[in-house]
Amino acid sequence: MNDRYKDKQWREKMRIKVDVNNMFEEFIGENHGINPEEIEEMVEEINKAEQNIKKQYEDGKLGFIDLPYKQKDVVEEIKEYANKNKDKFNNFVILGIGGSALGSIALQTALNESYYNEKESSPNIYVPDNVDPDNFKSLLETLDLEKTVFNVISKSGTTAETMSLFMIARKAVEDVVGKNNISKHFIATTSKDSGYLREIAKKEDFKMFYIPENVGGRFSVLTPVGLVFAAFVGIDIDELLAGASYMKEICSSSNIWENPAYLNGLLQYLAYKKGKVMSVMMPYSNSLKDMADWYRQLWAESLGKEKNRDGEVVNVGPTPIKALGATDQHSQAQLYMEGPFDKVVNFIEVLEFDNDLKIPDIYEDIKGVSYLREKSLTDLINTEKKATELALTKRERLNNTIIVPKVNEFTVGQLFYLLELQTAFVGELFNINAYNQPGVELGKNYTYGVFGREGYEEMKEEYNLRPEKKDEYII
Ligand code: PA5
Repeated sequence: MNDRYKDKQWREKMRIKVDVNNMFEEFIGENHGINPEEIEEMVEEINKAEQNIKKQYEDGKLGFIDLPYKQKDVVEEIKEYANKNKDKFNNFVILGIGGSALGSIALQTALNESYYNEKESSPNIYVPDNVDPDNFKSLLETLDLEKTVFNVISKSGTTAETMSLFMIARKAVEDVVGKNNISKHFIATTSKDSGYLREIAKKEDFKMFYIPENVGGRFSVLTPVGLVFAAFVGIDIDELLAGASYMKEICSSSNIWENPAYLNGLLQYLAYKKGKVMSVMMPYSNSLKDMADWYRQLWAESLGKEKNRDGEVVNVGPTPIKALGATDQHSQAQLYMEGPFDKVVNFIEVLEFDNDLKIPDIYEDIKGVSYLREKSLTDLINTEKKATELALTKRERLNNTIIVPKVNEFTVGQLFYLLELQTAFVGELFNINAYNQPGVELGKNYTYGVFGREGYEEMKEEYNLRPEKKDEYII
């Protein structure tokens, strides 16, 4: 693999920066912009948030902070396993949902070529991330199961969607390869200490990888959850972790003006307090489009909470929206420009793409298109980003830009860490627990009840007693 990340100059060249100019009054105007004095006034809250993160880290609760550099043995094991096995399979399927799927999807889109599965590269990657029967049936029928390995990922080892897909896949694989050959087609990535997946994997003799107890699903992309598949498809996981580690170093500063995760987190928080309750993530790069999807879950599940840490009902949380530039300039931008003043637009700009395309020197005589001749698509996409940024700013709309020098393992590792820490910091400013998701339990429990899972009988009763819907409202 590549050692370039060991070179200081290269690292600095690849450093991600956050441009927050357009969050401030000076650029946005005083109606909506933030005054730097507001930051000075937050000094106590900032210190408290920082101390809380430190304390939780010291108490061993924030495992994601250690991931960049404290899993050398696991990384070696993953690389060895992937090297030994990757040529045996044409397809690698991830069976997981939410935090057990979105990070891998983001990694795959960011770091493998566009249309990767259509290329000769092997193995192809599939992440169904849902229990849609048409989709999963079609996937199983499309794949040569003799040449397919499934990584079943569930930290709890109980998630109904993941376990259902696994049970269907297991039967399908058994039908093709026979009972005695199942084990090599499955990997289980789960908790070391508990859960049904762990129990099954042991019984079935699957290869197992473990998710540290102190790393929650949506913070787990840099554990075996994301690393195993990455190693299988040749993503340089050492460089990925080195990128995260580099950002950890940058974000270790207690000076808010030098710490991009804290500064941007604080500005998002202040914007929320001013009624900007929607947070749009808009990369101008197809490679990073699923990063916005991953971030949407991270932001929503971590920050959308009913109660604060003191048990008071607060019902907080910015609503994350994913967008893609330039595509969504023709879909969402009208709303961002002229709709309510309730959004912060978080752009991601990539300075250098792996490839560029020049628009050919044709149609000189047709004025409406001749101005495009000889320009490059990199220029076009980045000029459109800058133009949209200026247009938003002129209209007093808060926005900021994460500047990515180039999309590669090192910068993607930085992005993951930056956004995770930023989320943790905003959670502290809101004084909420960013690491649980009590709100999703009720829906899950009704499903368990309806499906007759032991211990959920009351939920079934409650479900059956739901108010009957009126036919006249279903038209
Ligand atoms: O972020 C989270 O904790 C959740 O989104 C989980 O990742 C998701 O619910 C899947 O959970 P599990 O990995 O236990 O199957």
